[in-house]
Amino acid sequence: MEVSLADEEDIDGVLAVQKEQLLAYRPEESKTILEQEGFLIYPTSAEELRAIIQDKKGHIFLVAKEKEAIVGYVLTYDLETWIRSEAHWTEKIIVPEDVRALLYRSKTLYLRHVARRKGFKGCGKILETELFRLAKARGYSLVVAEILEKPHHNIASTSLHVKLGFSKIGIKNDKGGRVWGVYAKKL
Ligand SMILES: CC(C)(COP(=O)(O)OP(=O)(O)OC[C@H]1O[C@@H](n2cnc3c(N)ncnc32)[C@H](O)[C@@H]1OP(=O)(O)O)[C@@H](O)C(=O)NCCC(=O)NCCS
Repeated sequence: MEVSLADEEDIDGVLAVQKEQLLAYRPEESKTILEQEGFLIYPTSAEELRAIIQDKKGHIFLVAKEKEAIVGYVLTYDLETWIRSEAHWTEKIIVPEDVRALLYRSKTLYLRHVARRKGFKGCGKILETELFRLAKARGYSLVVAEILEKPHHNIASTSLHVKLGFSKIGIKNDKGGRVWGVYAKKL
C-alpha cells in the first residue's frame, strides 16, 4: 500500500471511499455493524476537496493506493483553517479550560475524515502513522479529532485512535442530538 499527498486526480477515488462509508448510504446495515465497522456522518464535495488540495498550507490530505486505486484517505485541517470554515467550533466543544488553551497555543491539526474501503483493514493505521510523521515535520505538536458517541458510537474509530495514542479531552453537542467525543494526541 502506498501513501501520498492527494492531488486532483484522486478526488473521484476519495469520493467513492466516502460514499461507501457514509451513514446515509447504509440504511440496511444494523446499528451493531455500523458501530463495529465505523461510518462517516458529514460528506465533503468534489469542490471542497479541490479547494483543500490547492490550499497546501491549510491541510494535510493523504491517500492510500493499492495497485493505483484509492483504498483510503485521511483529511486534516490546520486548526485555524478549520475554525475559519466552522466558525463556532471553539464554543461548541466542552473541554477543560487548560486543554482549550493548549489547543490554541499549540500548532494543532484537526482530523476531519479517515476512511478506507471495506476489505482494506490496516489502512487506517498506515495512513495515520504517515500523517503523524508529516505533521511533526511541519511543526504540528497536537492532533484533535471528533468521534461520534450518540446516537451511534463509532467503536472502530474510537479503538483505532486510542490504539494510536489519542485520549478523550471532552465532548461536543451537535444538531439532531448528536454527541461527539473530542480526542487529542500529542505528536
Ligand atoms: C476507522 C477506520 C478508518 C479504521 O481503519 P482500519 O484500517 O480498520 O484500522 P486498522 O486495521 O489500521 O486498526 C489499527 C488498530 O486499531 C484498532 N481497531 C481498528 N478498528 C477496530 C475495530 N473495528 N474494533 C476494534 N479495534 C479496532 C485495533 O487495535 C487495530 O489493531 P489490530 O488490528 O492489531 O487489532 C475504518 O474502520 C473505517 O474506514 N471506518 C469507516 C469510516 C470511519 O469510521 N472513520 C472514522 C470517522 S471519525
